[in-house]
Amino acid sequence: MAPMKSGESPYLKHLFVCVNRRPAGEDCCAEKAGEAVKERLKSFVAANGLKGKVRISGSGCMDFCAKGGNVMVTPGRRWYSGVTPADVERIIALELAPLVSPKPVA
Ligand code: FES
Repeated sequence: MAPMKSGESPYLKHLFVCVNRRPAGEDCCAEKAGEAVKERLKSFVAANGLKGKVRISGSGCMDFCAKGGNVMVTPGRRWYSGVTPADVERIIALELAPLVSPKPVA
């Protein structure tokens, strides 16, 4: 087995979107559209040339279930709570859009 190594993240940003589902009747991010939030973020990354620079990952429970949906951004330890699909464009504007390279002028 190869020895463990540590180093810098290969990503400029890594967004973790909680998609955890808890038992019926308990607050959870899956019930607050965590998958839809994750998929919209992923589609923005793919459509704007950010693959390999930005990673969107579905995560397990972050232990803030009652405040979900939850999105954690690294580096910087930024945390979005109460996230709904209606908030995703704002997260994109704040976190992802500044990383998009300008399109060349024809
Ligand atoms: S289910 Fe998302 S924080 Fe617990």
